Amino acid sequence: MRAMTDLAGKHIVLGLTGGIACYKAAELCRALIKEGATVQVVMTEAAGQFITPVTMQALSNRPVYSAQWDARAANNMAHINLSREADAILIAPCSADFMAKLVHGRADDLLSLMCLARPLATVPLLLAPAMNREMWAHPATQRNVAQLRADGCTVFDVGVGDQACGETGDGRMLEPQELLHDVVAFFQHKVLAGQQVLVSAGPTFEAIDPVRGITNRSSGKMGFAIARAAYEAGADVTLIAGPVGLPTPRGVRRVDVQSASDMLKACVERAQEATIFIATAAVADWRPLNAADQKIKKDGSGQTPQLQFAENADILATLAQSPRAQSGALYCVGFAAESHDLLAHATAKRQRKGVPLLVGNIGPETFGRDDNALLLVDAQGAHEIPRAGKLVLARQLVIEVARRLAHPTPSN
Ligand code: CTP
Repeated sequence: MRAMTDLAGKHIVLGLTGGIACYKAAELCRALIKEGATVQVVMTEAAGQFITPVTMQALSNRPVYSAQWDARAANNMAHINLSREADAILIAPCSADFMAKLVHGRADDLLSLMCLARPLATVPLLLAPAMNREMWAHPATQRNVAQLRADGCTVFDVGVGDQACGETGDGRMLEPQELLHDVVAFFQHKVLAGQQVLVSAGPTFEAIDPVRGITNRSSGKMGFAIARAAYEAGADVTLIAGPVGLPTPRGVRRVDVQSASDMLKACVERAQEATIFIATAAVADWRPLNAADQKIKKDGSGQTPQLQFAENADILATLAQSPRAQSGALYCVGFAAESHDLLAHATAKRQRKGVPLLVGNIGPETFGRDDNALLLVDAQGAHEIPRAGKLVLARQLVIEVARRLAHPTPSN
């Protein structure tokens, strides 16, 4: 299934200021367009020292603007025309000098003029700083960042690592894909602002001996998508992840665990602070009773090892019965992976686990896949979120959870 583009219908003015990170702006421009946005590039004179308008025009498929005296605009007011059409102005890279200019409301070139002339209420200004580590750490720059935030600008993080000048530290511009994720997140409604979300995801691994173990086919994709969607919705998110090879969603705190016991410990610990717990992990129901310290060897007799099992604690039920959940401070959401009779099993499981909301899905139709369909079961009944990409579903689920938190009923 083709994923929906996240910036469809958005028009972004991409401003480039002078810095070596201009080379990344070319890739960023492509990434924004691939995600469905239209992009109008505006460059300062200094940016033109690092990358040509020809490159940016070819990538954005629109003429680039650089000068405030550009006669192409019929009214000769490029700064007004371009800023009125934008859903956001994104300055990437944003130099230390340009931030200083913005702080003072100076407007002596097209880009700064446009930032000052933009309608504050409808055209957000997003900045991706890029500079040497000493410049970034300088009190003047940090003062400017704080002032810009106070003025309502969104200042993205800087990256850490090798810099073009040969030094290493904070200050380089984020990579294009990281910035893309931050821009997409910026446009999501902040329905979980102020919430502390805890998500369990992926399979668990129950050791038999140091080289073998029992696990399952959960990919972790749904849980990771929910963590991303919750972060995009403004929550502070902790993801407790079983063994999966997925990248950590931007802005999400990740704790890697192996066994169900590790996952229980991590979840119980983090749940002290959480206001929402979403249990997507496929937790092993049983673990080998006594994992061997050394690899179990064949002894040539043809005898197979006799494994005994102990039942793992139910993490979701444990947290749902905790005093925080019982007092309403922690809202618990369970998942149910079933093979048949989804509604009946999900309804019974919701009651058994003691959670206000249970999300049912058909295991074989979701494990490892990028899409899924969800059946939401609560005290009011059931409602389906039809098959879609997991991130799309995750965003819808986040809205459903936020709605239930905003309008609590006695039984949800
Ligand atoms: N879960 C959990 N800890 C466990 C087992 C399950 O937290 N030890 C959570 C899962 O993360 C999921 C929900 O409980 O949110 C349901 O998991 P599922 O495996 O479908 O249910 P089970 O309780 O194992 O029931 P059954 O195997 O009978 O279907």
